[in-house]
Amino acid sequence: MRDEAKGAALLAWYDRNARSMPWRVGPEARRAGRRPDPYHVWLSEVMLQQTTVAAVRDYFLRFVERWPDVRALAAARDAEVMGEWAGLGYYARARNLLKCARIVTAAHGGRFPQTRAGLLDLPGIGPYTAAAIAAIAFDEPATVVDGNVERVMARLFAVETPLPAAKPELTALAARLTPHDRPGCHAQAVMDLGATVCTPKSPACGLCPLRAGCAARAAGIQGDLPRKVPKKAKPTRHGIAYVARRSDGAWLLERRPASGLLGAMLGWPGTDWTGSAPPEAPPIAANWRDPGTEVRHTFTHFHLRLALRVAEVGPDAVPEGGQFVPPGQFRPAELPTVMRKAFDLAHSALKPA
Ligand code: ADE
Repeated sequence: MRDEAKGAALLAWYDRNARSMPWRVGPEARRAGRRPDPYHVWLSEVMLQQTTVAAVRDYFLRFVERWPDVRALAAARDAEVMGEWAGLGYYARARNLLKCARIVTAAHGGRFPQTRAGLLDLPGIGPYTAAAIAAIAFDEPATVVDGNVERVMARLFAVETPLPAAKPELTALAARLTPHDRPGCHAQAVMDLGATVCTPKSPACGLCPLRAGCAARAAGIQGDLPRKVPKKAKPTRHGIAYVARRSDGAWLLERRPASGLLGAMLGWPGTDWTGSAPPEAPPIAANWRDPGTEVRHTFTHFHLRLALRVAEVGPDAVPEGGQFVPPGQFRPAELPTVMRKAFDLAHSALKPA
């Protein structure tokens, strides 16, 4: 199969098999002249960085219902956006999302730049996201390379170089296949193929529109590609979180510093997270109890074992850090996942208020 035939087979497959997604304008509607809303494309692509389509869907729908366009999002309060993002992880993405919305509103009149180069200047938009938005929203023949695309290219062309060293080679191959006609559909077609047919384990080659041209399949090595340099084992860090409930039902919470891990998110006061068990650092004088269970959570670069302390405090207790949040204003769903896990365990360890 020549490159043009591969591209054509892929588009024909996409026309029949495109996944339906709330931010997507499918091939039929696209042909009929409907264009995707760049705000929707941008928001979904930022949410999809490091996250799956299934996990993003409900978040996307809640965001566009609450903030229907980029100006509305730019006008939102930081804490509201961080609260809606809670649970999606990689919170720097949400901070950059807001920065980006504010720049697009203030400096670009509420319209996204229409080229990959213009998009790359915005916060939170790296090479992948700029190419994806340029292709999908503006039909620029930009080469879009995510993990799915890397896998499809590694197999189609039987690239044996392991990742991450293979990235430039795989990008060049993806560029070779990128058409000038319907580049947005093409980008989404490769991603859908990678997500549904050319899957990491046991690819469904029988369903693949490119099987006749796939070098890995011809050699019987499709399941072994892409090769990867083994990842280093993650270290384990230890910390203590303190969950205090006041007699009126208020919880002692603190907003984390704006930068760094879980930056600008709400959480329980606690120690730093370090290589060995840290000394106690309670945020308020109380009769702290150890509920006997700890939270386990895995971040990108380490595993966390977070010990818990729980306490009931009187109405006059004054914390050294953080603020008491009345029960009517506290939504556990606004906590990042690790803090939500701590809440669930602490809540069941405390007696009903
Ligand atoms: N993953 C990230 N962006 C995507 C898109 N636009 N279509 C399918 N999968 C994706």
